[in-house]
Amino acid sequence: MNSFEFKCETRIIFGAGTECRVGREIKKCGGRRVLIVYGGGSVKRSGLLSRVENCLKEEGVDWLELGGVEPNPKLSLVHRGIELGRRERVDFVLAVGGGSAIDTAKAIALGIPDTGEVWDFFDHVREPEKILPVATILTLPATGSEASRATVITKEDGQVKKGLNFPILRPVFSILNPELTYTLPPYQTASGCVDILMHTLERFFSRGSGNELTDLIAEAVIRTILKNAPIALENPSDYQARSEIMWAGTVSHCELTGLGLPGDWASHQIEHELSTAYGVAHGAGLAAVWGSWARYAMGEGMDRFTKYARDVWGIRTGDDDGDARCAIEKTEEFFRSIGMPVSIPELIGRPVSEEEIKTLAHKCTFLGKRTIGNLVVMREPEIEAVYRMANHHERIGGFYVRE
Ligand code: NZQ
Ligand code: ZN
Repeated sequence: MNSFEFKCETRIIFGAGTECRVGREIKKCGGRRVLIVYGGGSVKRSGLLSRVENCLKEEGVDWLELGGVEPNPKLSLVHRGIELGRRERVDFVLAVGGGSAIDTAKAIALGIPDTGEVWDFFDHVREPEKILPVATILTLPATGSEASRATVITKEDGQVKKGLNFPILRPVFSILNPELTYTLPPYQTASGCVDILMHTLERFFSRGSGNELTDLIAEAVIRTILKNAPIALENPSDYQARSEIMWAGTVSHCELTGLGLPGDWASHQIEHELSTAYGVAHGAGLAAVWGSWARYAMGEGMDRFTKYARDVWGIRTGDDDGDARCAIEKTEEFFRSIGMPVSIPELIGRPVSEEEIKTLAHKCTFLGKRTIGNLVVMREPEIEAVYRMANHHERIGGFYVRE
C-alpha cells in the first residue's frame, strides 16, 4: 500500500430538515456576525434563505447578505465580499448554494483577515495562513467543495480560472439536506453527477496502485452515481436517490477516493478553460472532454483502464485494449443517457476553430508555465490534441473515432 496522510476537518450534518440547526451550530463555533453568500436567487425562490435567516434570528446571531454569485464565480465579487466583511466586522462566512457560492465564501473568508491581495494566493505568491470559519448549506451535489480543501475562482482580467488547494479551506461544518436538491434543473443534476464521477475518476486514473480499499471506495462512489443519477432525473423528489448522490459528492472529493494515489486532473484543467471561455457548467464540460482524454491517455494506464472496465462495468472482451475502449464508450453512453454532451460541439453548439484550440491550450498551461496531468504529462501540443479530438468526436458504426 502507498503511504498517505488524511484529515478532513469538516463536520457533516446530513439529513432532512438539518438546515434548521445552522444558527446553533454557528454559535457553537463562536460565530456572532455572519456573512451569508449565495448565488443568483434559487435560494430565495425556494424559501431556503428566509428559513436560514429565521434560524439565525432565533439564536441571536447577526447576519449580512451577499448574493449574486455567478456560476464559475468571479474575483470582483470576492473583492466586494472582502470589503463588506472587513467593514462590517464579520467573524463567520456561511455559503448557501452550490460550488460557486461555496468557493466565493471560501475566498472571501481568506481575504477578510489578510491585508494583501487575495489573488496572490491563487498565483502562489504567498501562502494563506489564516481564514475565517466557513460553513455551508449545500444545494447542489457536484463539486465536493462542502468538504474539499479547494476553491476555484475566475479573475476577469485575462479570464484566468485558478484553483487554490489548502487544508484550511475545508469548511468547519456542512449541512447536507437532500430535500434541498429537489428543485435542481435536470441539467444541473446531471452535470453535478458527472463532476462527482470525475472527482473519482481523476484520482483513479493515476500512476500507482496497491491501495485496494481506496479503489473499492472509488468504485462504490462510481456505482452509486451510475445507479442513482437516472432515478433522480426520473423522479426529482426521490429522497433516497438524492441522498446517495449528495453523500457520494462529498466522499468523491474529500480525498478518500484517492488516498495513496497522485491523481491525474488533466480533464479538470482542460475543462476549466472551456467553462471560462464559454460559460458552460463545469460538469457538462468534463463530460464533453473526458472520453477524448481517456482515449489519448489509455495506452499509458492500461492496468487502470482494464480494472475500471472489469470492476465497474463487468466488461470482458478477452483483450485489454478492447476492454478499455468499451469502458470509455460505456461511460460516454451514460453521459448521453443523462443528457450530457460528449463533445465540444454538443457542449457549446458549434465546433471551435483551430485558433480557439491554440488559445485554450496556451491558457491551460498558464501561458506556457506548467504542464498538466500525471498519467500522461501534457504540454500544449498534447492538450491541443485532446481539444481536437473532443471537437470532432462523433460516433460512426458503433465506434467513436478520432478525426
Ligand atoms: O445561482 P443560483 O440561483 O443559486 O442557481 C444555481 C446556478 O445557476 C443553480 N442551483 C444550485 N442549487 C440549486 C440551483 N437551482 C435550483 N435548485 C437548487 N437546489 O445551479 C447553477 C449552478 O450552480 P454552481 O454553484 O455554479 O454549480 P456547481 O456546484 O457545479 O459549481 C461549479 C463551480 O465549482 C468549481 C467549478 O469549476 C465551478 O466554478 N469547482 C470547485 C471545486 C472545489 N471547490 O473543490 C472542485 C470542482 O472540480 C470544480 O472545479
Ligand atoms: Zn470538478
